[in-house]
Amino acid sequence: MDGPLADRAAELRKLIERHNRLYHQLDAPEISDSEYDALFRELVELESAHPELKTDDSPTLRIGAPPLAEFGQHRHLTPMLSLDNAFSEEELRAFDDRVRRGLGASEVEYYAELKYDGASISLTYQDGRLRTAATRGDGTVGEEVTPNARTVRGVPLSLAEPLDGALEVRGEVLMFKAAFDELNVARSARGQQVFANPRNAAAGGLRQLDSRLTAARKLSFFAYAVGQSRRLADTQSGTLERLHGLGFAVRPEAGTLVGVDAVVRYVERWSERRASLPFGIDGIVVKVNRLDQQEELGSTARGPRWAIAYKFAAEQAFTRLLGIVNQVGRTGTVTPVADLEPVHVGGVTVSRATLHNYEDLKRRDVRVGDTVIVQRAGDVIPEVVGSVLDKRSPDSAAPEEPTVCPECGSPLGRSGSEVALRCFNKACPAQVAAKILHFVSRSAMDIEGLGEKLVVRLLDIGMVTDLPSLYRLHGRKTELAVLDRLGELSVANLVEAIETSKARPLDRFVNGLGIRHVGSKTARDLTRAIRTLEALRRADYDALTAVSGIGPQVASEIEGFFEEPANQALIDDLLSLGVAPVEPEGPIGHLFGGQTLVFTGKLEHMTREDAEALVARFGGKASGSVSKLTTLVVAGPGAGSKLAKAEELGVKVVSEEDFLAMLPEGTR
Ligand code: IVH
Repeated sequence: MDGPLADRAAELRKLIERHNRLYHQLDAPEISDSEYDALFRELVELESAHPELKTDDSPTLRIGAPPLAEFGQHRHLTPMLSLDNAFSEEELRAFDDRVRRGLGASEVEYYAELKYDGASISLTYQDGRLRTAATRGDGTVGEEVTPNARTVRGVPLSLAEPLDGALEVRGEVLMFKAAFDELNVARSARGQQVFANPRNAAAGGLRQLDSRLTAARKLSFFAYAVGQSRRLADTQSGTLERLHGLGFAVRPEAGTLVGVDAVVRYVERWSERRASLPFGIDGIVVKVNRLDQQEELGSTARGPRWAIAYKFAAEQAFTRLLGIVNQVGRTGTVTPVADLEPVHVGGVTVSRATLHNYEDLKRRDVRVGDTVIVQRAGDVIPEVVGSVLDKRSPDSAAPEEPTVCPECGSPLGRSGSEVALRCFNKACPAQVAAKILHFVSRSAMDIEGLGEKLVVRLLDIGMVTDLPSLYRLHGRKTELAVLDRLGELSVANLVEAIETSKARPLDRFVNGLGIRHVGSKTARDLTRAIRTLEALRRADYDALTAVSGIGPQVASEIEGFFEEPANQALIDDLLSLGVAPVEPEGPIGHLFGGQTLVFTGKLEHMTREDAEALVARFGGKASGSVSKLTTLVVAGPGAGSKLAKAEELGVKVVSEEDFLAMLPEGTR
């Protein structure tokens, strides 16, 4: 096709692909979305008025094409191998031993990449144009999903630089967490089953016969290899650089690492940091960087000897839902909690997981007896994300929402637009127990020996009714001693622990009060600014919002708490029983004046809170993350990403001992 229309179509295609790359690959758009849309619309209109102008690399194909009847088969030019796995540092080191022995080398250069949690795909380019895209299949033959692949971000329809002949590019199709959340919100609004994880949503999206449905999933592609029939460079790092130049999305987190120790550190760093990535990874792939060394090592039937996949602990697992327990929290919210057949997930054994609330439970259609998917990501509370419907027993029934409090029998309800069910009875024993347990917990009054069982027991027999009653126990030692399992010695210890707690720092006392939205950190912010209990009890909204770290919502919760006469009476009671929270001293020096310190790794001589309090006493600030503003990092054993960041930014790093040595004699 020649002529001005064909020229304009070609020009539009080039422009659109360039802006696609700037946007999706480089994250550096040069035009607005509406300017982009205008270019796109012009091309769509041109192609529909003149079908002869259409090409197989036109960006208009990115919106999807009419459905196929079935997928074709595609034989990969070079087989798509899979990788051996390592699950521990020992196994990584054993891999390095095998590699070094195989090469007769004392140290090897590796290239470490994120292991993207999606579906692998092979793209074949002929003379610079995308010809076919295929799933892995059995590794030799896969399903041809070319129209679908064209809708995936990061898949160039034609290469950015000329390249003759065939090129196979391998990589992973995945879904970003934001796109996944958006998809699930939309699905649940339409009454459709939500996806358990982005991997399933991506793999399913890739296998739609109607590529317009694939386009709607907003999938992304990251390249990680080329088929071995072609070499783009002498190393894996060089190959990825070349692929980037050809227009593929390649992640910047990958790096060359010399020796296995550096590999172990990289793996540790990313296992800590994985939650901060905008997409899921399930491990790290470690590859020998030099291709000549890769060739020398060769492959077994299973996979290459020159690469290994280090797998993180799985964040999801299947197990059976044995029952649903309704748990009443400190503020009366009733949370359905799953009672599970114990299962290993995210590195721990889980037998309880949250089901959030009854609306969510209904939407996810989870039933007792179901095989469910349990998720535990990072430090987050384990949750049930959904059921495996195929395995559901035909006589299962949807769980019923409770109408009365399981603990006190009061009717449950919802306040305002809240989704949570609530017990409004302030005297509800479950709420009282939860309040007391919070008050005595380590981050509050820290009363050792007062565990859940004992508190519940004392509540049952009426020896404890509220917080002040704890401080009256010392007069009832004989009654305490006759309780099973509480001998005289432990009664003495318990009474002593209660006594000691009377003089805890003010911020712990404030945390212990259980004011909504006020945890340890907010309590510390509060008492650092408003230094006495009396001032705090009288602080108004303006005084509270003036405290750094306290916003309008938290300020009105605090104000509301102290406006309640019952709460003021409670504090008076505690004070009259001898509770005397220790108010913070002013800074005793300016050793750390104007400085921001970060503690990372394990501290061996003090708790993190003590360390941070020391910094404050000497006029400095302690922060949880390393940035350009950090002046000193105190690193203990096991320090990972924060230490690396400090080194990267050139921030001074010292040990815990060095830190203690900086303090004047007698204050350590
Ligand atoms: S390289 C012969 N690199 O993990 C080497 N694979 O367990 C082929 N994967 O099937 C794979 N991220 O689907 C490689 N950066 C990465 C990867 C990666 C994810 C997947 C891929 C592969 C599986 C192997």
